[in-house]
Amino acid sequence: MRIILLGPPGAGKGTQAKIISERFGIPQISTGDILRKAIQEQTDLGRRAKAFMDNGQLVPDDLVTGIVHDRLAEPDCSRGYILDGFPRTLAQAEALTESLKGQRGGIDFVIDIRADLSRLVKRLTGRRLCKNCQQMYHEEFNPTKMKGVCDKCGGELYQREDDTEETIVRRFDVYESQARALESFYASSGKYRPVNGDLPVDQVTREVFAILNH
Ligand code: AP5
Ligand code: MG
Ligand code: ZN
Repeated sequence: MRIILLGPPGAGKGTQAKIISERFGIPQISTGDILRKAIQEQTDLGRRAKAFMDNGQLVPDDLVTGIVHDRLAEPDCSRGYILDGFPRTLAQAEALTESLKGQRGGIDFVIDIRADLSRLVKRLTGRRLCKNCQQMYHEEFNPTKMKGVCDKCGGELYQREDDTEETIVRRFDVYESQARALESFYASSGKYRPVNGDLPVDQVTREVFAILNH
């Protein structure tokens, strides 16, 4: 099963992608995670992406489409995958359609996690991640037992550099400038399914599974 997750920053793409990945045994491909890893490892890609990400701007299409094209060619993607945070522009969506042309079938579902932006700021400013295992927490909605320490592995928690209010607002602007074009691109494919991302995590998951199991 090939799935695309769309939605604004903080909608829960990463949260739901992880749950779908475990349930269906297919990899989560998050362009944001790939780029952050590249920055951490100081690769050429990371050096080129850093300023864009720190400012809440999109990394140029050619860099991102190249990464995804290569990633989808890896063997673990043969049974399907979940794209989390890609495509983000019409150009990326077109490039993806083009690179899937040679393969049987294309994307099965485009799930758009819709959410009220004003409620997402709190989700993002409160998000904490484990440095060691990347487990996600939220200071208020999903706190660790001991402050600053991962429940799963004891690792130290950190905050994403782009999770400041100023950068979050910029990320929302970027999202809004692209969202409608992406929606209409996929609406015409018949694969587009909106879900209500304002609901609690488990209820969003229920909506998503109802679509995937249909
Ligand atoms: P990326 O990493 O994709 O960030 P984003 O789109 O801004 O989305 P987030 O990861 O912040 O949110 P999410 O929807 O995954 O929510 P999450 O599940 O974590 O991209 C970052 C940057 O990389 C971009 O700005 C850009 O520079 C670059 N980039 C990436 N892809 C690119 C591309 N294709 N092209 C160009 N540039 C690209 O949840 C958030 C928080 O809320 C968590 O704390 C979670 O616990 C909590 N939460 C989740 N769901 C719920 C719920 N239902 N109720 C209550 N709390 C919830
Ligand atoms: Mg994410
Ligand atoms: Zn951990």
